[in-house]
Amino acid sequence: MESDEPILLSGIKPTGVPHIGNYFGALKQFVEFQTIGTHQCYFMVADYHALNTVQSAGEMRELTRDMILSFLAIGLNPEKSVLFKQSDVPAHTELAWVFDTITTMPYLMRAHAYKDAEAKGREVSVGTFNYPMLMAADILLYDAARVPVGADQKQHIEYARDAAEKFNRIYGNTFTLPEEYIVPDMAIVPGIDGQKMSKSYGNTIPLFASRHEIEELVMSIVTDSSGERPENVYRIHSLVKNERELAPIYEEHKGKYKALKEALIEDLDAFITPMRERYHELSADPSVVTDALERGAEAARARANEKMELVRRAVGVS
Ligand code: ADP
Ligand code: TRP
Repeated sequence: MESDEPILLSGIKPTGVPHIGNYFGALKQFVEFQTIGTHQCYFMVADYHALNTVQSAGEMRELTRDMILSFLAIGLNPEKSVLFKQSDVPAHTELAWVFDTITTMPYLMRAHAYKDAEAKGREVSVGTFNYPMLMAADILLYDAARVPVGADQKQHIEYARDAAEKFNRIYGNTFTLPEEYIVPDMAIVPGIDGQKMSKSYGNTIPLFASRHEIEELVMSIVTDSSGERPENVYRIHSLVKNERELAPIYEEHKGKYKALKEALIEDLDAFITPMRERYHELSADPSVVTDALERGAEAARARANEKMELVRRAVGVS
């Protein structure tokens, strides 16, 4: 880890078992950035963000551990990237408070996530309302220049940029303005029902699914009979094979949805198997996660605390 490389940071909430939508929309890029080595990479499990929905200690622990295991199984390496959990670095919540004090309610009320929850008549916790400020703190504490996320997170990066600008204007230049990185051409991965794949819709294909699970899930992908090609099958298939590879398969089995689903099962299983095996190997040794987290917490804290001290001085509480 060269200290003068720009910082890249991203995070994911431990709210469920990671699925292929999370992988293709976010996790895969984490590994690619680690590999190309142009940035110093920080990857975080956003457990305090998840607290808005996961309200059982046992489940939180389990899901957090599982997300770290998933990081390791897909190829993130604690010797190359800082892998940590948000709650291990208290400066995140501390800085979020400071941002709260320079942010207005109407501005936060424009957040898509808040507006959606409101529109659905859900009761919105203050934590959910404030979500963008904690996320701004996650990013700005590390002077992250680049933040790879799925398209649905774009607005949150804008909030972080605005928080940085506002703080810099009031208290003097303190924060780097982050840029989002949205995977080019990366459409939203559809779930087996054709809606966006999401833990909350129960329509996912888990990232470490067994062969049997893959078979059952793929066979239950909703297809419409209007075209020659089952679009939902094709869209998932195109994640693991390119257009040129898919063309002859879809030509040969035109209109034969079962055969196309069988082809998808083979390709998806071939893709998932190495990661699934690594996941099971790693999960046999509980110290793997503990060691990774300890190492990550130390590195993240060192950097975050330095920044937090500048903030304390800037606002006059140090
Ligand atoms: P979920 O909707 O399953 O709860 P999260 O909101 O926790 O997923 O998303 C974690 C990351 O995965 C985010 O960066 C998000 O943009 C990405 N992501 C989630 N679902 C998809 C999807 N269906 N297609 C592409 N990216 C996705
Ligand atoms: N809000 C992000 C999501 O739902 C997760 C997240 C939390 C995050 N903190 C972050 C992403 C900081 C990037 C940077 O997917």
